[in-house]
Amino acid sequence: MTRLSIRRLTPELLDALPAMDRRAIGSRRDLVRLNRIMRHDAIMAGVLRAGANTPPRTMLELGAGDGTLMLRVARRLAPTWPRVAVTLLDRQDLMTDATRAAFADLGWRVKTIQADVFDMLTAASSDVYDAIAANLFLHHFEGAALRSLLAAAARRTPLFAAAEPRRAALALAGSRMIWALSCNDVSRHDARVSVEAGFKDRELSEAWPTDEAWSLEEQRVGPFTHVFSARREVT
Ligand SMILES: C[S@@+](CC[C@H](N)C(=O)[O-])C[C@H]1O[C@@H](n2cnc3c(N)ncnc32)[C@H](O)[C@@H]1O
Repeated sequence: MTRLSIRRLTPELLDALPAMDRRAIGSRRDLVRLNRIMRHDAIMAGVLRAGANTPPRTMLELGAGDGTLMLRVARRLAPTWPRVAVTLLDRQDLMTDATRAAFADLGWRVKTIQADVFDMLTAASSDVYDAIAANLFLHHFEGAALRSLLAAAARRTPLFAAAEPRRAALALAGSRMIWALSCNDVSRHDARVSVEAGFKDRELSEAWPTDEAWSLEEQRVGPFTHVFSARREVT
């Protein structure tokens, strides 16, 4: 058994830091750069486009952070997916006025919800979304928590898309090199533990609920990314 055979969850430093902490601000800036380097905006836009039969009118992102990843996804999709109402959920309230304005410039309506993902998804609300996305988020959870998160998401959407760290030696090596990009200590720690908590093979498909007919796809994309999508089959 190698070090990466099984998932290992270690708390991420960024999750424990106050939003305005200097190291947290630096780490979120690093995250924006790392998402760009890994091309997660293009990857997420591609997975959503491939999974949607028609352009969504409503979308939800889980663990959306400062919203800049979804903004870059929106820039790619807006020419063919106009006037999407996108809801960004995160435990922290991180979106700037500039990001909000940039969504508006694209013609997308953006709403933020500051809440824990479980509280939001299991609330007695009947809100449903044409698509739900998660970027670098699902790896925070394992076991029963991961399965119940995915089951709650499945009840609220016919299309779920995730881009997560790939649990592989090359990705781990990459996470150890980000000092060369001047990433701070928080980012260096969190990048490594994210890979160790990341996914491979069919791990997300196996955690997805089985009570309805879903078309599931799961694969590596590039050296660092593990992609999962679930589309409810139309009967
Ligand atoms: C690694 S960051 C990714 C942010 C964003 N998706 C991106 O790619 O830039 C993970 C985010 O998940 C949020 N988060 C972690 N646990 C959460 C929970 N239980 N409920 C809601 N948000 C959570 C954190 O606040 C953080 O913004």
